[in-house]
Amino acid sequence: MAGGVIVNTGGGKEYPGKLTLFVFITCVVAATGGLIFGYDIGISGGVMQMNPFLKKFFPEVFRKKEDDKSTNQYCEFDSQLLTTFTSSLYLAALVASFFASTVTRVFGRKWSMLCGGLTFLVGAALNGAAQDVLMLILGRILLGIGVGFANQSVPVYLSEMAPAKLRGMLNIGFQLMITVGILAANLINYGTAKIKAGWGWRVSLALAAVPAVIITVGSVFLPDTPNSLIERGYPEEAQRMLRRIRGTDDIHDEYRDLVTASEESKLMRHPWANIVKRKYRPQLTMAILIPFFQQLTGINVIMFYAPVLFQTIGFGSNAALMSAVITGLVNVFATFVSIFTVDKLGRRKLFLEGGAQMIVCQIIVGTLIAIKFGTSGEGHLSKTYSSFVVLFICIYVAGFAWSWGPLGWLVPSEIFPLEIRSAGQSINVSVNMFFTFVIAQAFLTMLCHMKFGLFYFFGGWVLIMTIFISFFLPETKNVPIEEMILVWRSHWFWGHFIADEDVHVGKAETEMSNGKPKSDAI
Ligand code: BGC
Repeated sequence: MAGGVIVNTGGGKEYPGKLTLFVFITCVVAATGGLIFGYDIGISGGVMQMNPFLKKFFPEVFRKKEDDKSTNQYCEFDSQLLTTFTSSLYLAALVASFFASTVTRVFGRKWSMLCGGLTFLVGAALNGAAQDVLMLILGRILLGIGVGFANQSVPVYLSEMAPAKLRGMLNIGFQLMITVGILAANLINYGTAKIKAGWGWRVSLALAAVPAVIITVGSVFLPDTPNSLIERGYPEEAQRMLRRIRGTDDIHDEYRDLVTASEESKLMRHPWANIVKRKYRPQLTMAILIPFFQQLTGINVIMFYAPVLFQTIGFGSNAALMSAVITGLVNVFATFVSIFTVDKLGRRKLFLEGGAQMIVCQIIVGTLIAIKFGTSGEGHLSKTYSSFVVLFICIYVAGFAWSWGPLGWLVPSEIFPLEIRSAGQSINVSVNMFFTFVIAQAFLTMLCHMKFGLFYFFGGWVLIMTIFISFFLPETKNVPIEEMILVWRSHWFWGHFIADEDVHVGKAETEMSNGKPKSDAI
């Protein structure tokens, strides 16, 4: 127990303070950074369904789609150029997140959000006005850069602003906005697909400007986090901010721990070289495996390609878009379950329950499709039968929406010590984007070759990741972010990687009583 601060049963301290309106509003504004990511995820699948769009940019795919009506359903949309349209964004985001790491650390979290919003805005304009594939893909790349910056900075911002007890809830605001972005995109596609004159896709792509403006304007007004203010040498501002966001003058303990974390972080000049040190092995492993596993749940097969997937299994074009709206709604509402339970039940319970639910649904959906289409890919689904398919897809989406969806962003953002936080978050974003890219690029081909087995394939992965969580992820609920080291230290496996001298608790206290750091003392 450091500094006479209460150690709660969750393994961490409890600092004084409450959820202030100010912190709530800042977190809501920052979370809107998730909208741009969500809008992208949801918009491309529907646009790819629009014939005028296909005719203009991908005439070959259009011709193929028109010509071979009767052949193998599984392979109808298999085109690498078409998937490049979806996936180019994620490669750009991957690269951008490394640049964002420096901006976030050196200039502060809010500037990364602003960069993200502005670049995204230009990308939306280019896409809405696209005349050829080049413009289209260039626009997607700019959108990707925007997403890279936003996803690198927003989750960290939220986790730093939030009081430990409510960190899960406030951080999941980001995921909630992602799901709202996806749903908005689905609804917009549903409407614009009906525009007879054939320019509906332009509206869909250009409307990405709306979430871009929201986060751009929002980030101008956002204050920076106390952690970042201390890290960048503004101790007075940091104290003021801490008082404001915690709604109390009694911020000494928390402030002191933030200063300790910052002092430690200053000893390290190269976060990228440090993150590979043995003592950070648990965090590094999670920064790589959590986003990898999140994508291997197969969720984006549904999010990107729900309309394509539903059409593939025999839905009409309109019904396919409508079903995508239904899964989008389930995704939004189920996210609330995690918002209200994550700080009480904890992260692990949600991971384990959500994982089990997804596995069962994937087996059922794969089997339902196998029964009707077999390996030939030929067949037809009755109304009742397809409703069952949609039902189990919805239960699967709900499972994801209260487990791997939000926790895939929350957990990595709360486990890194300050000195490697920016770097760690960039790894998280880039691994996420890389595998989002791989799935986006490979899905249509995989569907064509693996057929219904694709659902079993992802189900197998969810089984592996659920087992992994049960053995290797310690519970992080309610633990102050700068105290997370204690959780790793007491873990049966990860504890071996952390020596006693790696645990900084109490160090600040000594320094403070020695009169250091003077300028920061309160
Ligand atoms: C994932 C996305 C996914 C979305 C679905 C996010 O957490 O990173 O890849 O499309 O959730 O809601």
